[in-house]
Amino acid sequence: MNVLVVGSGAREHALAWRLAQSESLTELHAAPGNPGIASLGRCHPVRADDGDGLLALATTTEIDLAVIGPEAPLVAGVADLLRQNGVSVFGPSGEAARIEGSKTFAKEVLRAAGVATAETMSVARAPCVLKADGLASGKGVFVCRTAAELEAALPVVEAFGSGAVIEELLEGPEVSLFALSDGRAAVPFGAAQDFKRIGDGDEGPNTGGMGAYSPVPDLDAAALVEQVHAPVIQELARRGAPFVGCLFAGLMLTADGPKVLEFNARFGDPETQVLMPRFRGDLLEALAAAARGDLGGVELSLDDDAAVTVVLAAPDYPERSDYAGATIRGLDAAAEAGALVFQGGTAVRDGRVITNGGRILSVTATGASLSEARTKAYAAVDLVSFEGARFRRDIAAVAGG
Ligand code: AMP
Ligand code: GLY
Repeated sequence: MNVLVVGSGAREHALAWRLAQSESLTELHAAPGNPGIASLGRCHPVRADDGDGLLALATTTEIDLAVIGPEAPLVAGVADLLRQNGVSVFGPSGEAARIEGSKTFAKEVLRAAGVATAETMSVARAPCVLKADGLASGKGVFVCRTAAELEAALPVVEAFGSGAVIEELLEGPEVSLFALSDGRAAVPFGAAQDFKRIGDGDEGPNTGGMGAYSPVPDLDAAALVEQVHAPVIQELARRGAPFVGCLFAGLMLTADGPKVLEFNARFGDPETQVLMPRFRGDLLEALAAAARGDLGGVELSLDDDAAVTVVLAAPDYPERSDYAGATIRGLDAAAEAGALVFQGGTAVRDGRVITNGGRILSVTATGASLSEARTKAYAAVDLVSFEGARFRRDIAAVAGG
């Protein structure tokens, strides 16, 4: 099979890395990809949200399966355009991707499916959580414990211009839980813990994610997928919007049981960087089976080993995501030490890998336990450098300790 990976982050590098190990793979293409992906396949200068450009590329390279990584092209209907023109796609239609693209729609589906979620409030009063309704790269949510925090958040959310949702404030540990679907089945694909805040000890603003680990101890992922993903996938099918792709639930494990904070219509970033090293089996066969509506006979299993990833970000991330030109050193040394360095915001200049984005690298390691994986991941982080690199020192510290 010829495969096209759409996107340019460390998530897409991790997906490409696992897809490249498939015996069914003939050619691997990416649009636009990044220098890490370029070592595995061929990158093309087509933007992830350029539907017509992707269709033309898929046609000339005779793509058998397109795997769409990021949410923006999914919500914009790129999967529909490709499918209508005969390209098999792993990734939901624009209609089904509204589960991520519209918080109001997600609430409506959750209610109809009878899945527990944070209650919506009609009036904003602290404590509460204020959310911009549309896509905001993880930056449109404000947890307001005090009236002053709420007052500060209101104009910011208004500025997104997409309307707002007000929710009760829930407490508890968070997990990211994944399932693959062919439109009908919900097949568990493991769980991970993401670290959303920029600073150690969960201080500072939210980001896209600064690190992750998997598995999540004491979590029955399969049972939770039955409880959360399966009814939502059924409900979307009932509405004539079957979900084909990876359905990602952000859950809070409250004292009253698990409650959904949000759904995403794709793999997580950086969660994918810890799921792919643990995945056992043929990823290409699994994604292709989902895309053709035939996940029934496919076994998805994850290794017992643990994985930890630490994101090295730009010095001014998350305020800015355009840190360009700093030389990245030590990539080979980290690989020789047994780590997997997935590239996100990178570019190549004069044969050298340089920074080009916000979340630059995901330094990943596996081990027999979380603490072993964590020790190896941080040892590799110490081998990699670029000027101003910003990262958390406490990824997986509690679970691994
Ligand atoms: P979301 O993009 O909806 O997942 O929200 C981003 C982050 O905001 C979540 O990972 C939580 O840490 C926090 N959050 C969202 N909704 C709530 C809620 N109802 N109660 C408490 N924290 C929340
Ligand atoms: N790490 C959270 C996300 O991918 O949205």
